Amino acid sequence: MRGIILAGGSGTRLYPITRAVSKQLLPIYDKPLIYYPLSVLMLAGIREVLIISTPRDLSFYQELLGDGSHLGMRFEYAEQAKPRGLAEAFTIGCDFIAGEPCALVLGDNMFHGQDLSRVLWRARESVENEGGAVVFGYPVRDPRAFGVVEFGDGGRVLSIEEKPEHPKSSYAVPGLYFYDGKVSDIASQVEPSDRGELEITSVNNAYLADGQLSVQLMGRGMAWLDTGTPEGMLKAAEYVEAVQSRQGYYVACIEEVAFRRGFIGADELRSLGEEMSKTDYGRYLISIADEAERA
Ligand code: G1P
Repeated sequence: MRGIILAGGSGTRLYPITRAVSKQLLPIYDKPLIYYPLSVLMLAGIREVLIISTPRDLSFYQELLGDGSHLGMRFEYAEQAKPRGLAEAFTIGCDFIAGEPCALVLGDNMFHGQDLSRVLWRARESVENEGGAVVFGYPVRDPRAFGVVEFGDGGRVLSIEEKPEHPKSSYAVPGLYFYDGKVSDIASQVEPSDRGELEITSVNNAYLADGQLSVQLMGRGMAWLDTGTPEGMLKAAEYVEAVQSRQGYYVACIEEVAFRRGFIGADELRSLGEEMSKTDYGRYLISIADEAERA
């Protein structure tokens, strides 16, 4: 399975912070925001990732993440010339996907929870073995800023509405989607919405119309954090700080995930840590390598 991270957008909702810097490069506590969605793809066992951003910002992502070989991965990069909508990721990424199943994660979506790896594997196996699409439903107090699931009798999914004024449930669809190899074809047929965007919700509704969409609910034990406002970013940073300082385990430490998933070995992990040995982050990597060698 391949992965795409969409880190585009004009960022106007966070002005002036994002006037000169892409949102997904901003720090959430001790690491760039994009580390969080990247770690999600890695936890799903995905090693080939396409990073899509604006012509202005793409080179900064290349500088941050390189070709991925230091993580035992392969990264490719592509431009989205204009913010024409999320569904365009699959036409921009058509050659990269090459008809394989694919996961898309939005570069500003953060997930954390005990159950996350299992949820991801289940979604991956479902689209790999049975085809179709898997998206998630997550209860939020005010779902109006999101795609929102409408349920019928027996929990049957009737529709997904994009940013409805009058949401038909409290279940928002987070920015994490798993699709079979048909997704580029389906996305290429999507028409722009009233707000002029190629909506991911239209892709999901196309799968739904074919009886091929599964909506899996995420429970209370899962954190899906908002980074859409300065307040959301601050709260997300506080969450990460609280978990890390209490447990001593890092959230979204991509080098650690690469090691624990077997993409790299302890020696490689140690040298990544040594490059950053002036920070707690770097020393954390070294401590994991030490621990692994003692075991
Ligand atoms: C996008 C999607 C929306 C989804 C949300 C998740 O909205 O269009 O369906 O619920 O991401 O973050 P946007 O953030 O582009 O407004």
